[in-house]
Amino acid sequence: QIIHLEDYRPTDFVLERVDLTFELDPRETKVEARLIFHRREGVDASAPLVLDGDELTMTGLLLDQEEIPAALYDVADDALTIRGLPETAPFEITVTTLLSPETNTKLMGLYRTNKVYCTQCEAEGFRRITYFPDRPDVLAVYTVNIIAEKATAPLLLSNGNYLGGADMGDGRHFAAWFDPHPKPSYLFALVAGDLGVVEDKFTTTSGREVALKIYVEHGKEPRAAYAMDALKRSMKWDEEVFSREYDLDIFMIVAVSDFNMGAMENKGLNVFNDKYVLADPETATDTDYANIEAIIAHEYFHNWTGNRITCRDWFQLCLKEGLTVYRDHEFSADMRSRAVKRIAEVRHLKSEQFPEDAGPLAHPVRPTQYREINNFYTTTVYEKGSEVTRMIATLLGRDLFKKGMDLYFDRHDGQAVTIEDFIACFEDASGRDLSQFSLWYHQAGTPLITASGFYDAKKQSYTLSLEQAVPATPGQSAKKSMHIPLRVGLLLEDGSEAKPAAVSGADVTGDVLHLTERKQTVVFAGIPSRPVPSFNRGFSAPINLHIEQSAKDRALIARHEVDLFARWQALNAMALDNLAKAAAQARNGQPIVCDEALIGGLLAAAGDEGLEPAFRAQVLSLPSEADIAREIGRDNDPDAIQSGRQAILSAVAASGKDIFTRLLGEMALSGPFRPDAASAGQRALRNAALSYLVYGEDQPAKAVSAFHSANNMTDLSQALTLLAHRFPDAAETLDALATFKKRFADNALVIDKWFAIQATIPGASTLERVKALMSDPHFNPSNPNRVRSLVGTFAFSNPTGFNRADGEGYRFLARQILDIDPRNPQLAARILTSMRSWRSLEQVRAKHAQEALKEVAGAANLSVDVSDIVDRMLSDG
Ligand code: ARG
Ligand code: ZN
Repeated sequence: QIIHLEDYRPTDFVLERVDLTFELDPRETKVEARLIFHRREGVDASAPLVLDGDELTMTGLLLDQEEIPAALYDVADDALTIRGLPETAPFEITVTTLLSPETNTKLMGLYRTNKVYCTQCEAEGFRRITYFPDRPDVLAVYTVNIIAEKATAPLLLSNGNYLGGADMGDGRHFAAWFDPHPKPSYLFALVAGDLGVVEDKFTTTSGREVALKIYVEHGKEPRAAYAMDALKRSMKWDEEVFSREYDLDIFMIVAVSDFNMGAMENKGLNVFNDKYVLADPETATDTDYANIEAIIAHEYFHNWTGNRITCRDWFQLCLKEGLTVYRDHEFSADMRSRAVKRIAEVRHLKSEQFPEDAGPLAHPVRPTQYREINNFYTTTVYEKGSEVTRMIATLLGRDLFKKGMDLYFDRHDGQAVTIEDFIACFEDASGRDLSQFSLWYHQAGTPLITASGFYDAKKQSYTLSLEQAVPATPGQSAKKSMHIPLRVGLLLEDGSEAKPAAVSGADVTGDVLHLTERKQTVVFAGIPSRPVPSFNRGFSAPINLHIEQSAKDRALIARHEVDLFARWQALNAMALDNLAKAAAQARNGQPIVCDEALIGGLLAAAGDEGLEPAFRAQVLSLPSEADIAREIGRDNDPDAIQSGRQAILSAVAASGKDIFTRLLGEMALSGPFRPDAASAGQRALRNAALSYLVYGEDQPAKAVSAFHSANNMTDLSQALTLLAHRFPDAAETLDALATFKKRFADNALVIDKWFAIQATIPGASTLERVKALMSDPHFNPSNPNRVRSLVGTFAFSNPTGFNRADGEGYRFLARQILDIDPRNPQLAARILTSMRSWRSLEQVRAKHAQEALKEVAGAANLSVDVSDIVDRMLSDG
């Protein structure tokens, strides 16, 4: 069944209030929902009330406390229909349902994780708790009563403010919560269990005292300190930058170890995958710290962008997700190095979103149809959605963007709205017409800009010919021209920036060229000598760019651009060119040639003390095998890509030996571990240098010594990765793997790393390793983090292992998907998207991949989640 945007209409009945009572029990939880409705004005008196449900057992149904006769209702698996309801007067429906949290393996609705009751309702989990109008445009005020055994669930939490509680005298107790802010059901949450807590407080600018609580398993409290710090910084930042204050007396975060996604922004009670809460130097890497900071901020920021203003329907998901990702990106940029953060964002966008947008799962940022909404929590909705928001900020400039955001908060507070409403705020605030720009929400596919330049010395003018094309994507064959804000600088020979006397052929604001036509010729007057164009500074638009640019010109950009992102971009483009060439050479059995210009550029940046270490580390981290495959685009041979990349890496390692050896010493940190961005940058640069040194030798000694001297998880996991990937079968590696496992045996998040490191060992034989690891006592097929760390990591991040030429990798994945699907369809569907680029493989592999997908598609009893993904992946457009 396909849901279409154009079919949207409001509900027939308006929900006014919700009263929920939970009597918690692992196998038999009783939920009583009292719902006050009235018929919407103008709705036919005979229209029935239709409520959503999913795998529910209903044991009672009352209208104003009277039993409803069987003839007046139908109860089906997915809906409850009630007829004969009052024409105008408000009425109360009481539904009683029975749930079994302990056997709820889908982790949607009410479930249990490590003895803790917890909920996940977005997108459609609330209907697994009770029959309800489970859609985001139904906003109501909730009261929640929780009854549970005191011994096993001393803690009873829900949204809003705590009303009170009491002992019930029979070993049970209860607590009541009231959330004054009207909210949709997807923001409901309940948590009950026995947990430890870390407490703090925050005072808002207008003087509200907010109690902050982070709940974690007993004994893990010290590991929540960084999350608490990130939370307080987020609250302050949202006041300073977006003028947004918190609106309840308490803000709670609960960390759980079984969770399908990263985290969830339930009103006043965020629930997190504990991976994004728990950190200490011994067990968390710098990347973990950065992710915690970003996700704590993301969920907190949702309080305004998502909760106070929510989505009219799920097609509008990017209204809250794209905007909130943009907000968390800006937060991290302010907390850390803006340029380095931007580089990391763009790397992520290109490696995750660009392939999605170029393959069978491509969809617009604001889709118009879906079969399973859970499959639309994608990098397109999140990351491209964020980029589109960023472009609005670029088009309007800082002040008008803020004015538009203020108008949005002001105009739509308390409402469930659409992307059109959002755009209208920026149009009204700025007086600009954003209709062409809004195509970014509606047209899928990454635009390609082809550029060429011509310098006329006599006229002292520089002409850029630009052409845009948006590729065809499923369901969208013809595309219109987009409004693309392209930031461009013209660099002169000495590295200074040309200041054109005039520009014609495009609107220009500052260094932004506004491309709006399919073809545009832009002429810059008053250019004294042949300039080198530096395109898409700061990655102002999420596009692909084709331009013939010499390594020499790129090196000029890399040395002199004022925009640090553009410097990295130039070196990255130079590396990609070379790596793609190297892959072709490897495939044809030719000698692999590493450009001197590339080596020179990388080493110059690596040794440049004027640049921050984190930036130099980004430069040294070569494009991944997946990046190279994307650059090549079609007929990919992952083995050739890997050998080519290996050869380039060795060449850089050989030429840079002295610099890398020096960096190893210079970047060493002393004193206690600090997770701040500058220290993390030093560790990153040191580890990048170490990695080249290890790849430059055929003995594991350096990696072994790094493993033994590491005093934090960043260095330790890096050393273990180097050992495992470079010397997979060496005795030293087996030793290190065993030591690591023994030392962290009772820390699930670290054991996840142990699995992931082994799942990414390059080469065909890793499949056997992965299969063996599935029988390891630590492997737990029902814990999503564990499944992702082994099966997911292998499929997403091991190009040579997963894409074995004999197709065994795909067949393995197909079997895993069919095994996971009945337990947890969301997890199965997500991991299956690892095959989204199968059509760009060389034909033997592509054929194997297709057969494996067909095997999945043909299986009996597939979930809608998996069948939606596999059907789209197999369809021709
Ligand atoms: N709204 C959450 C976030 O981005 C994601 C929850 C998605 N959950 C799901 N089951 N699809 O912060
Ligand atoms: Zn979100």
